[in-house]
Amino acid sequence: MAETITTLISEEEIDRRIQELADQISKDYEGKELTVVGILKGACLFMCELVKRISCPVYIDFMQAASYGSATESSGTVNIKKDLDDSIEDKHVIIVEDIVDSGRTLEFLGRFLRSKGAASIRYCTLLDKPERRVVDLEVDYTGFEIPDKFVVGYGMDYAQKYRNLPYIGVIHFDD
Ligand code: IMP
Ligand code: MG
Repeated sequence: MAETITTLISEEEIDRRIQELADQISKDYEGKELTVVGILKGACLFMCELVKRISCPVYIDFMQAASYGSATESSGTVNIKKDLDDSIEDKHVIIVEDIVDSGRTLEFLGRFLRSKGAASIRYCTLLDKPERRVVDLEVDYTGFEIPDKFVVGYGMDYAQKYRNLPYIGVIHFDD
C-alpha cells in the first residue's frame, strides 16, 4: 500500500506560531522558573523549537507514554515507558505534546505529575483535534486546531516514519 502526504501546515507557519506560543509562555511565567516536560517521541521537535524561544529559565525533562492501540487510533490504556529523571516537587510544569486526540494521554500524564507534587501544571500542544476528544481536558497553549485527519511530520509518525518532515502533512493511503 502506497502512502502520499499533502502539506497541511508549512514550516513557516509552524515557526511563526511557535514564536507566538513562546512569547505568551514567557509572559505568563515572567519571574518564575519553568520545567518543560516533553512527551517522547512525537513532541521532541516542537519542544526544542519552543524552549529556545522562551525567555525565563527553563529546565527540561522527558517522559514517554505508550498507549496501546492500532497504528492510527489510541486505546484507553496509557502506560509509562519512561519516567521523569528529576523531581518536580513545587515546580511549575508545562507538559508538551505533539497532538491531542482523545485527550487520554495528556489527562493521564497530568494526573500522574500532579500526584508528584508540582506547584502548577499546564498543557501545551502543537496540534489539537477537538472533534476527537473523549475526556474533559483543557489545553492551555495550542498551536493549531486541525480537522479529524491523521497527520505526520514535525515529530509525528505513521509506523515510526515521517517524524523528520519539517512540515505537517496529511497522510493518504492509496491502493
Ligand atoms: P490521545 O491520547 O488519544 O490524545 O492520543 C495522543 C497521541 O496519539 C499523540 O501523542 C500521538 O502520539 C498520537 N496521535 C494522535 N493523533 C495522531 C496523528 O494524527 N498523527 C500522529 N500521531 C497521532
Ligand atoms: Mg505522542
